[in-house]
Amino acid sequence: MHNHQLSIGVSSCGLQLRRTLMARLQWRTFNSNGRHRVVVTKPLVGENWLETLLAADCRVDQCLSERILSRAELRDAIGSRCDGVVGQLTEPWDEELFRALKSAGGKVYSNVAVGFDNVDVSAATRHGIAVGNTPGVLTETTAEMAVALTFAAGRRLVEADAFMRAGKYKGWLPTMFLGKLFYGKTLGIIGAGRIGSVYALTMARGCHMDVVYYDQFQNEQLERKVRETGSLYQQLGERCISIRRAETVEELLEAADVVSLHTVLDASTRHMINNERLRLMKKDAVLVNCGRGPLIDERALVQHCREHPDFRVGLDVFENEPQMAPGLASLPNVVVVPHIASATVWTRTGMSTLAAANVAGIIRGDPVWNQPDVLAFVDAPSVAAMPRAAPSIVNAKELGLPQYKQMSRL
Ligand code: DGY
Repeated sequence: MHNHQLSIGVSSCGLQLRRTLMARLQWRTFNSNGRHRVVVTKPLVGENWLETLLAADCRVDQCLSERILSRAELRDAIGSRCDGVVGQLTEPWDEELFRALKSAGGKVYSNVAVGFDNVDVSAATRHGIAVGNTPGVLTETTAEMAVALTFAAGRRLVEADAFMRAGKYKGWLPTMFLGKLFYGKTLGIIGAGRIGSVYALTMARGCHMDVVYYDQFQNEQLERKVRETGSLYQQLGERCISIRRAETVEELLEAADVVSLHTVLDASTRHMINNERLRLMKKDAVLVNCGRGPLIDERALVQHCREHPDFRVGLDVFENEPQMAPGLASLPNVVVVPHIASATVWTRTGMSTLAAANVAGIIRGDPVWNQPDVLAFVDAPSVAAMPRAAPSIVNAKELGLPQYKQMSRL
């Protein structure tokens, strides 16, 4: 293993410009004589991801720079020979990049993320390139951050912390930093998939909240868990909890004291929280977003928070990351964190491992796993003990990739 500057695939008249672009980035290479070449566009967490790629005899060219890579830099990194890429949700994996990857002999791209709205999956499929993601390791971690943001926003933690540090605390007052009590209130979940369900159960069970959810599918398991918890609470003489599925987003927004967004971003959900819908919400509601920034019209949100100081917001994601809409940063009723909902060591190690295993698996010609339980990969005692499969390929069906059959490991 050694550090060096990448110089692969530079052949055209843009040679000088490309050299200059690449020179600004710091790269390192592992296993330089590996049979397959894989580009990893960022530093990752843990060692398993690297061992996974090396076990598949990959030469690994990893960018060590934290700067978000441009399309031109990604094209350069792909160069004229590249079998696979482990990339990031901050990169625009579109027709142009998949064409470049295909021409370089590429077979697979994996996001180090469960979301893949930065990837044009149809373009990848057209070029015969498998697209991987990393579900199954973010669920609890992301739900816990949504819980943290709910409390931080509702109980004004950031404002109160700044107040203390500024030396403004002169003694207890009955009127100071009044926030929102969640006990017995109504929790609204938009998108009741894995993360939304864990968040709902944590809040509903912990704070005895009634749940209203909006999702295109009925979540029977979530409903059963809430109802069974409700019966237990009733037997114990405590406040019962209930759950119902809203027919419309509007119905949910009108009913809920807390609204948390856990839906995917696509054309139908972009700006689903807009000016009109914000006006339907309770004036002292809490809105949390650990999904994707563009689910909310951020300018409309700034305006709404200015007009309604008791309306509180916790945001992990932003419409135009890394920027925030003008005015957002100075609103005291908004808590903001830099897209860190999945940032625990276990989860980020797992995400890195799964992304590498997607790439290694497809390069080796393994079948795809595509089962909800990926612990066989992330908790395997060694790379050799992992299933011989690509854990999660979103276009596996479209590409006609074989499925892993050995279900006994689950
Ligand atoms: C994802 O995986 O999609 C998250 O946004 C990263 O935390």
